Amino acid sequence: MEQPSEFAFASAPEGIGESIWEEEQLPELLETAAGADSDTALEFRRTLGMFATGVTVITTLADEQVHGMTANAFMSVSLQPPLIVISVDRRARMNNLLREEVRFGVSVLEERQSVLSDRFAGRGGDGPEPAFELVHETPLVEGALAHLVARIVRSYWGGDHSLFLGRVEYVRYGEGTPLLFHGGGYGRVVGNPRVFSSLPPELLQPILEVGVERVYEADEAIMRVGEPGDSMALVVEGSATIERGGRKVPVAPGELVGEIAVLDGGPRTATVVADGRTRVLEIGRDELMRALEADPKAATALIAVLASRFRESS
Ligand SMILES: Cc1cc2nc3c(=O)[nH]c(=O)nc-3n(C[C@H](O)[C@H](O)[C@H](O)COP(=O)(O)O)c2cc1C
Repeated sequence: MEQPSEFAFASAPEGIGESIWEEEQLPELLETAAGADSDTALEFRRTLGMFATGVTVITTLADEQVHGMTANAFMSVSLQPPLIVISVDRRARMNNLLREEVRFGVSVLEERQSVLSDRFAGRGGDGPEPAFELVHETPLVEGALAHLVARIVRSYWGGDHSLFLGRVEYVRYGEGTPLLFHGGGYGRVVGNPRVFSSLPPELLQPILEVGVERVYEADEAIMRVGEPGDSMALVVEGSATIERGGRKVPVAPGELVGEIAVLDGGPRTATVVADGRTRVLEIGRDELMRALEADPKAATALIAVLASRFRESS
């Protein structure tokens, strides 16, 4: 199949950085819903910012020196063959280091690595010196959630950015949750939020005392997505699995499930299934509310826990 001409001419190494847009100033084609007087560039940025992404550090080795650059314009392209693409600002130093045949690393940052993200975006050098590990002669940021090494097979112009298509040579991932980027700021995934379990034992104990014991058999649902949050449950013996949007999170004895829905009685966002015979303590919403009314200290402590969750994700 013949390539579109704009891709064809930019695929040679020397082609990176060439863009037909530079040749002639194009008329403004972008229409924004905010009207003719609006700042179209800003509207475009803000619109793109509504797309939440993870955050990566792109790394490469040039003259034995590691160069890293924060990037959220990272995308998977193909599983077979394994291909990924990154988009690099043509003014970035990284753009001059990447060429066809050159390898680059992608380190997917973990939720506590926003300082590293800022550092590789040239926004301050706080925090400890980042450490790198060489894999396939490519530096990777130590402690990141996932790593890929790719060799550039094609490069394309893309207006003021260059696109680098890489054939993936190495992958690895670890446990944890990724750092997110949305609307120009960092965010976190709130997968299995802990609310009541963050209370000090002396405040949690009177709440647990209003619970009623129940036993679930293997594969029996302890709670189902969409049901009203009329109770939460403490796993006492056995274990269970939280199933949310294709993700599975194990629940061990001593852990609570259904902590959020029980706060407002709203619909559950996950299904929880007993792995084998599992004994739980079920705390009904009505009994829970009465226990909180009886102990305002526990209610106040809960508000503080919720406030800290907001702080973490803002
Ligand atoms: C969260 C975040 C995402 C970014 N994503 C990209 C990106 O995808 N491509 C890019 O060229 N720059 C991106 N940047 C900006 C670069 O990290 C920044 O310009 C950096 O200083 C370039 O480094 P260099 O000139 O040393 O190569 C991003 C910055 C942040 C904070």
